Amino acid sequence: MEEECRPMLNTGLRGVVIADTRISDVQGAAGKLIYRGYLIQDLANRTSFEEVTYLLLFEKLPNIAELKAFKDQLAAERDIPAEVIAALKTRPKNALAMDILQAGVCLLAHHDPDVADQSREAALRMAIRLIAKFPTIVAAWDRIRNDKEPVKPSSELDHAANFLYMLTGAEPDIEAGRVMDTCLVLHAEHSFNASTFAAREVASTRAHIYAAVAAAVGSLSGELHGGANVRVMEMLSEIGSLDKVEAYVNQQFDAGLKIFGLGHAVYDTDDPRAHILAPMSKTMGERSGETKWYEMSQLLEKTGKAEFKKRKGKDIYVNVDFYSASLYYAMGIPMDLFTPLFAISRISGWSAHVIEEYFAGAAPKPMLYRPESDYIGDYCGPDVCELEPLAERG
Ligand SMILES: CC(C)(COP(=O)(O)OP(=O)(O)OC[C@H]1O[C@@H](n2cnc3c(N)ncnc32)[C@H](O)[C@@H]1OP(=O)(O)O)[C@@H](O)C(=O)NCCC(=O)NCCS
Repeated sequence: MEEECRPMLNTGLRGVVIADTRISDVQGAAGKLIYRGYLIQDLANRTSFEEVTYLLLFEKLPNIAELKAFKDQLAAERDIPAEVIAALKTRPKNALAMDILQAGVCLLAHHDPDVADQSREAALRMAIRLIAKFPTIVAAWDRIRNDKEPVKPSSELDHAANFLYMLTGAEPDIEAGRVMDTCLVLHAEHSFNASTFAAREVASTRAHIYAAVAAAVGSLSGELHGGANVRVMEMLSEIGSLDKVEAYVNQQFDAGLKIFGLGHAVYDTDDPRAHILAPMSKTMGERSGETKWYEMSQLLEKTGKAEFKKRKGKDIYVNVDFYSASLYYAMGIPMDLFTPLFAISRISGWSAHVIEEYFAGAAPKPMLYRPESDYIGDYCGPDVCELEPLAERG
């Protein structure tokens, strides 16, 4: 009887509203994603990552002068300290790229003069530094592990193009830069997802932004969250060809395993970002001379959805990681950098959320997160367990 009266727990907080926010709205039933009032489709088609970052941090789209000043500020903050580069050079070459990024965030904190300043102005300065430096850490690590010297950031290039430049040593053409920029716009913010919640939870303790962001990077690394884009590409590589897609889908469902890139905790429709990424994956596949990965993704989406419906009697939808995998692959991004690339974008959203959390941007007053749990462990009797001395324990 008592069991029946207990509320449903361990549901991963699905459907539980835990805070107000002014930053973004994910309308799961309608399949809409809105950053500070603007539809993601409009932002992807008509703004840049720098504009979207400004919007997330300063609550309005910049005018021409504001955008120029903001871009200059970001460009001026791209370099990372020589000590951080030197530390990266001491890491084993096979270290996980997300672990390197997380460690890089903590190392950067040691060099930030604002780290003990709890003002809003300092939080914004630190956020801008983190946003500017994320691509530099990721690109530097890829060069270092391949026995190459890191490429110094260019202050002439936009944020997205500069990342590709630091990664390859060559300036990307306009189309590649634009595609990367749109990817960054699409991944910049997504409300209270796992990593953002992690960042906000840490920020609610008044720990500094580097601590909050390091927690978020750790959360994003998991395969059920940002790590899914890597798992999608591994899955496509494992399948290998179009004619093996159907057998793979059946094999996964038979074994009770998931198909990465399908399913979402909030959307009951296709993820609107997937619809923007799919044609970009096709275009970049064509450009690279290899459309197989895009075509396999398309077939996997169709077959996976149909088989899910057949077996479970309900629908499943594509999420953001599904087509970003084949798109990044076609652009020559190393597979294990797909999730760090997600972080290069999401650092904007995390920063906006950390600042909203510190300064109660959408709440009456800042409040430390402290949920409760039901203890269902032992008491060894009606009261508590009697502690036996070590020597007497069986
Ligand atoms: C994202 C995800 C964690 C959302 O989880 P959720 O909404 O809580 O859904 P659940 O994991 O509880 O799954 C609900 C049901 O759908 C099934 N399901 C969910 N995603 C699935 C997938 N990708 N492939 C196959 N089955 C899936 C589950 O097995 C479960 O089936 P059941 O009801 O018979 O037990 C989940 O869809 C998933 O693991 N997807 C793959 C990883 C991924 O792409 N992550 C990126 C998210 S942006």
